[in-house]
Amino acid sequence: KMDVFISDLMSKMTIEEKIGQLNLLTGGEAITGTTGNSDLENKVKRGEVGGFFSLTTPARIRKVQELAVNNTRLKIPLIFGLDVIHGYKTTFPIPLGLSATWDMPLIEKTARIAAEEASADGINWTFSPMVDISRDPRWGRVSEGNGEDPFLGAEIAKAMVKGYQGDDLAKYNTLMACVKHFALYGAGEAGRDYNTVDMSKVRMYNEFMPPYKAAIEAGAGSVMTSFNEIDGVPASANQWLLTDLLRKDWKFDGLVVTDYTAINEMIDHGIGNLQEVSAKAVKAGVDMDMVGEGFLTTLKKSLDEGKVSEADINRACRLILEAKYKLGLFEDPYRYCNEERAKTTIFTPENRKFAREVAAKSFVLLKNAPTAGHTNAVLPLKRTGTIALIGPLADSRVNMPGTWSVSTDLAKAVSVKDGLQQVAGPQVKILHALGSNLIEDAAYQARATMFGREIPRDNRPKEQVLQEAIAIAKKADVIVAALGESSEMSGESSSRTDIQIPKIQRELLEELVKTGKPVVLVLFTGRPLDLSWEEKNVPAILNTWFGGTETGLAIADVLFGDVNPSGKLTATFPQNIGQIPMYYNHKNTGRPLAEGKWFTKFKSNYLDVSNEPLYPFGYGLSYTTFDIQAPVLDKTTLRSGEQINISVSVKNTGKVDGAEVVQLYIRDLVGSITRPVKELKGFQKVYLKAGETKNLTFTLSEEDLMFYNSNLDFVAEPGDFKVFVGNSSTNVKSADFKLEK
Ligand code: IFM
Repeated sequence: KMDVFISDLMSKMTIEEKIGQLNLLTGGEAITGTTGNSDLENKVKRGEVGGFFSLTTPARIRKVQELAVNNTRLKIPLIFGLDVIHGYKTTFPIPLGLSATWDMPLIEKTARIAAEEASADGINWTFSPMVDISRDPRWGRVSEGNGEDPFLGAEIAKAMVKGYQGDDLAKYNTLMACVKHFALYGAGEAGRDYNTVDMSKVRMYNEFMPPYKAAIEAGAGSVMTSFNEIDGVPASANQWLLTDLLRKDWKFDGLVVTDYTAINEMIDHGIGNLQEVSAKAVKAGVDMDMVGEGFLTTLKKSLDEGKVSEADINRACRLILEAKYKLGLFEDPYRYCNEERAKTTIFTPENRKFAREVAAKSFVLLKNAPTAGHTNAVLPLKRTGTIALIGPLADSRVNMPGTWSVSTDLAKAVSVKDGLQQVAGPQVKILHALGSNLIEDAAYQARATMFGREIPRDNRPKEQVLQEAIAIAKKADVIVAALGESSEMSGESSSRTDIQIPKIQRELLEELVKTGKPVVLVLFTGRPLDLSWEEKNVPAILNTWFGGTETGLAIADVLFGDVNPSGKLTATFPQNIGQIPMYYNHKNTGRPLAEGKWFTKFKSNYLDVSNEPLYPFGYGLSYTTFDIQAPVLDKTTLRSGEQINISVSVKNTGKVDGAEVVQLYIRDLVGSITRPVKELKGFQKVYLKAGETKNLTFTLSEEDLMFYNSNLDFVAEPGDFKVFVGNSSTNVKSADFKLEK
């Protein structure tokens, strides 16, 4: 039915009308980039626009839709997109934080709620999920992805697509997903945004491509190209990537949109002028041109000159019309413009309650020890006495939602101070002081607090600001130090070469520790940081990422023990920046260092630091303890078509209820190509009452052992394997099995 409808429509379209569909513009509320647009209304009326992004509210979108439907010859509706990345008005933790929940139903539900809210506000297309694997915490957009692991990344990609799209894209409350940034955007050299990428196909297929592929298999309706080059060809002109791999091998049948002005940027990449790069893009498989208007202004000329074919333009136009059809826009162009629904669906108390729960589950307890001279761990806090809440991030609402929360109401986010005040109870007195600015250098602070996320500065001498905080700290029973990055210190175009907390905040922390009072570092960050000093000197560290609109309440819930932390890192925290790139699923090399050793001459190691991370992938503490027994296998030889059942017994050995993420890794000991020392192949998050034991079952089949070999064939090779289970990538117990074919 769709094919007939679209063919019929296209048979009536002029080439100009078809090219118009390929043009995606921002509605004047541009978020990034430099291209402005003055004549939007006339463009729509002339049929030169296929869709908009960054326009919101049913009333405004209805008006723009009317322009298209009432004024163009064929009344083709527009599509409306937006960066709905980790929630809409109700904002959930940044994706890196969300991934630390390791809870797929919960992640799916965040995407569902985001879709409910955004679709009620007129949107039908989200530029999410971002599934770029990254192993470089210098890259600011590590905050927007799901960490370093392809298996976990693939599971999250599926959950997000399902959450956004539901079972029926035409329903009024679903959004079309857009998996991005295809491909390899997280592998830019030196962690500098938009930088060159160069990697082998074997690495690409095994370690970076699985999440994109999983999103496509889950039915993602669209794909966004990345800014980087692959094998010397920018993604938006890369025929191998967009046609051979994506459409032919992976059978993707949705639409491909570029990132913001990515076609124009290929002029700077050095592969041609605007007409040439636009022709290359459409021929490579790009359907929609975001903002730059290379297609709009050059494709007709290229067609006349024989540089692109009508078939290229028809393909792109058809895929865009199909997306609109699938979204139900031909049936009702105003399907997503329901003012009443907007009033009752967005930022509801239920959604906020859920966001609070999710935020608390995303926090990772990195350390919880007693202060010198005490016997009990610092956390959870008692609900009596005086808390000194100190730090530049303690009283900032706008900093809580995190990067790429473009539609949230920043003023309504809950700060740490708000949250503690609401949750602490009448017996707790809270004193507050700034303690230090975010960053000493005002110009750097300005770069790190853009887009309405300003953090006030105290312009008095820093010693005076510090002493005020120390005086308050001395009056308190415990110090809560809210420190780290501002939300705009990660995200797009926010790469850092120093991944410690800013120096002025460290100096404050040093002074707070010197008071001898118990100190809890409530850390804000959008990336793995070098916390070596903090790990050595601060008794309790709770990493809260950027937890969304309800952050402050969720922090208070965890600090007072109403919620037992259960988040687990999905990206390795290095001991220092020199260890980067650092990831758990590395290769063994020919000169591996023996386990437990720091340095052996002529082995693969450093003189000045051990090979260990500070906090490994999968790591995170709880207020209780768990005992995970060694895996028990029901057979030690796996044959094709069979599966191995692996039983794992987990006991909550502490005094409070809690959740543990039991992780299963394998190692393929001998292969036709070298294999990683560990690969995640399964995980289960299990809730256990104090003292309770549960037996979990994992399964492995031949398919789980497959990888891409040197010919890029997806194979499992017979031989010896190890299976590991544990509560991080380093704290594991193992068993052996064989694959026989
Ligand atoms: O979706 C984003 C992308 O992730 C980065 N560039 C801009 C796009 C649209 O806002």
